[in-house]
Amino acid sequence: MSTLVVVGVQWGDEGKGKIVHLLGRRADIVVRYQGGNNAGHTVIFDGKHFVLHLIPSGILQPGKKCLIGNGVVVDPEALQEEIQFLEKRKIRVEGRLFVADAAHVILAYHRYLDCLREDTSHGKIGTTRRGIGPAYSDKVGRTGIRIADYLNPGLFRLLLERNLREKAPLLKRFGSLREIRRHVLKRYNSLRSFLTPYVVNGPEYIYKAAASRKRILFESAQGTMLDVDFGTYPYVTSSNPVAGGVAIGSGLSPARIDEVLGVVKAYTTRVGEGPFPTELKDALGESLRQRGMEFGATTGRPRRCGWFDAVAVRHAVRINGSNWLALTKLDVLEGVHPLKIAVAYRVGGKILKEFPSDRQRQAEAVPVYEEMPGFHGSIRGMTRYEQLPVHARRYVKRLETLVGAKFAMISLGRSREETIILDSKFPWKP
Ligand code: IMP
Repeated sequence: MSTLVVVGVQWGDEGKGKIVHLLGRRADIVVRYQGGNNAGHTVIFDGKHFVLHLIPSGILQPGKKCLIGNGVVVDPEALQEEIQFLEKRKIRVEGRLFVADAAHVILAYHRYLDCLREDTSHGKIGTTRRGIGPAYSDKVGRTGIRIADYLNPGLFRLLLERNLREKAPLLKRFGSLREIRRHVLKRYNSLRSFLTPYVVNGPEYIYKAAASRKRILFESAQGTMLDVDFGTYPYVTSSNPVAGGVAIGSGLSPARIDEVLGVVKAYTTRVGEGPFPTELKDALGESLRQRGMEFGATTGRPRRCGWFDAVAVRHAVRINGSNWLALTKLDVLEGVHPLKIAVAYRVGGKILKEFPSDRQRQAEAVPVYEEMPGFHGSIRGMTRYEQLPVHARRYVKRLETLVGAKFAMISLGRSREETIILDSKFPWKP
């Protein structure tokens, strides 16, 4: 058996979709363990462009099995839409996709509450408005509804009634209790029968897969800096994208995690509000956004762009234990000179080399930059490390040293072929 976790080590959108797709060829099972349809994993497959939100991207590879683990929050309507989208494109899903019965459901009122909080509170997060935060709040508040409860009509109606009554004062702006109940129940019967064949006991599924020595790839959504514990709290998502989340979100014993690969962009982006010390609010930031096509795969929002932040990535590499990294979008930096890397922060007259855990210092952090010469000419299409211009290679080496991990591959474009596989001991080398 061999298990690999692929995790983002910035603020999400590092290009995990392509990397999971590339490595997924060597997996038997691909598992999502946190998040929900807030994610947007872009994959080019057979010349076609796919954006997956909830279903692991392993589904695009014939013969692979996929699991949505108990740590994911599942919007039944969104899941049905995604399954139908894939089946229309002749990708068979039934019999290959499984959903843990302990995963919590996102219902219409979670989406309403997400919007309400975003529109009216002072602490706007810039969420995807998919109901993720409110669904996780219910989970830890012990009022959540799991898939198993959702499939049990008597119990579901009881729990729904209790939750609607509890949330009624907040929900009244969206209509009467009766209207909201009607909305939640509108497609309930058809969704329930649609979902039933996909549902399994998650930990049992994972345990049996591990016991029969299957190769399992865990696909994280979002990124370490959006982790509810280790990210820029409160400007984070409501789950644990870090590798430690795998055990909680799937039922795999932490003792059985073999490798962790971090995915990191050659510069930094973030969507939504919150601290971003290396953000470029100038023409260069705009140029990175255009050249890197930095627009949210889920919401279409423009992503904020900035220099590579080695302080944040080193923090993420340590938490994940990601000794291996995949570097993405190096080609977007073609012609940018000089290249800057944040190697520390200055906060209140002090130099900080570690990512601060409190919001005030995160907001006040001013990067201390190291400059390197940029590289020129097109590097797209290169497949060997030696082909890269010397200054590109120096940049890559410097990043490795600063963050304390080795690159196993460098991605120079969206398709599978546009990748340099480095000569390394990375056990899942494609
Ligand atoms: P939520 O996950 O919708 O609650 O949003 C919380 C924060 O995480 C917001 O800043 C979102 O923009 C961000 N976020 C959520 N999912 C993603 C993602 O897949 N990529 C990048 N940012 C994300």
